Amino acid sequence: MTESITITDNRSGESYEIPVVNGGVSATDWAKILPGIWFYDPGFMSTAAAESSITFLDGTAGILRYRGYPIEQLAESSTYLEVAYLLLNGELPTESQFEQWRHDVTSHTFIHENVRKRFLDGFHYDAHPMGMLVSAVAALSTFYLDAKDIFDPASRQKQIIRLIAKMPTLAAAAHRFSVGMPFVYPDNSLDFPSNFLSMMWKVAEPRFETDPALSRALDILFILHADHEQNCSTTAMRVVGSSHADPYSACAAACAALYGPRHGGANEAVIRMLSEIGSMENVPAFISEVKAGHGHMRLQGFGHRVYKNYDPRAQIIKKAADDVFEVTGRNPLLDVALKLEEIALSDEYFTSRRLYPNVDFYSGLIYQAMGFPLEMFPVLFAIARTAGWLAHWQEMLDQDSKIARPRQLYTGADARDYVPMARRGA
Ligand code: CMC
Repeated sequence: MTESITITDNRSGESYEIPVVNGGVSATDWAKILPGIWFYDPGFMSTAAAESSITFLDGTAGILRYRGYPIEQLAESSTYLEVAYLLLNGELPTESQFEQWRHDVTSHTFIHENVRKRFLDGFHYDAHPMGMLVSAVAALSTFYLDAKDIFDPASRQKQIIRLIAKMPTLAAAAHRFSVGMPFVYPDNSLDFPSNFLSMMWKVAEPRFETDPALSRALDILFILHADHEQNCSTTAMRVVGSSHADPYSACAAACAALYGPRHGGANEAVIRMLSEIGSMENVPAFISEVKAGHGHMRLQGFGHRVYKNYDPRAQIIKKAADDVFEVTGRNPLLDVALKLEEIALSDEYFTSRRLYPNVDFYSGLIYQAMGFPLEMFPVLFAIARTAGWLAHWQEMLDQDSKIARPRQLYTGADARDYVPMARRGA
């Protein structure tokens, strides 16, 4: 049976039936009934901006699935590269499909020498690596002019491979520049996370040997961050992509959205907060301050627009943290984090607002224990989310979507005549 909603226009007495499709009603159908009356929804709190078959998220039940596969199973058994293939193609790859995909990505890890020598080397000595990444990704569009052929399947696939492959290279290059270390070329004999760690940390050794536990933990973090349906940066990707800009320009916009502390910058903010709290004894006073701040001061790494339950990714990360700390030693801030979680989860302020730890509450502790500087945290997020951004970009183009162009409710001045400067008051 088709579900529908009937509304009556009290001005005319006429009733209209609007079908409910996939849990939504078409705003275009409503607009026919209410011409000139717009739906007011800043922040898209109640608006579905797309139909998507990539990621399923039930924030109340704490469920996250990529293409139907539970995030817990993917984190347990898959790899980031396989998950990227899944997000982009809709199905898990066969052995030969995966081999081809791995080969394609691995053989595109190098960046043009001019990107590094002329472009990245031109930044100020203390440039934030995320700012460098945003610019470098945009700059790639000037190196691959075929990227404009967004409806040519071969060109599209090529840009997807290039972006997935080059993000870790750009990310590591930004870090090496910011600490004054020479650039490390990709080692294509290593797997995806190990190659990234080699580009980050290699000094003079002929081949960088990474601890498999650390490389696996990083891969799990990449899997957990690979997609999260219509989040802020993915929306930026879709909005810019809807103008038919090339994927590098759209991806740079997505990176820029991820840079903000309300989104990808949150794990950096968590570590700063935990360091400021300093020790377990100071936790109750800090919680009281957050509550007294009435929203002006936030418990970083807590709360989520969609999850009104424990973020399933936070649970997986908590487990991965133990494996990392076994190699690196325990992060001293972990005890502060655990105490903060314990107190917040039993406090009415947080429970009544359904504020639970999100993915970023523990990820920063792992990154810090692995030696990543705080500024690199959003960059790590960007490497992983590139797969999701591209999957959504591709899906949007295949849906023949309209250019994103919302309406507004105008609240400014009525029409008035221009006043020459000499006749304006002080
Ligand atoms: N600490 C204290 N109070 C909070 C927090 C927090 N972290 N988050 C929300 N609240 C309160 C807020 O003050 C408001 O209270 P009241 O109803 O009394 O005014 C209520 O909870 C609802 O908050 P909201 O801002 O309307 O919720 P939102 O859905 O717009 O915001 C959020 C979601 C993630 C921006 C927000 O929870 C937040 O700022 N959290 C801290 C930053 C953070 O951890 N961000 C990472 C998100 S997960 C990674 C990602 O997706 O990028």
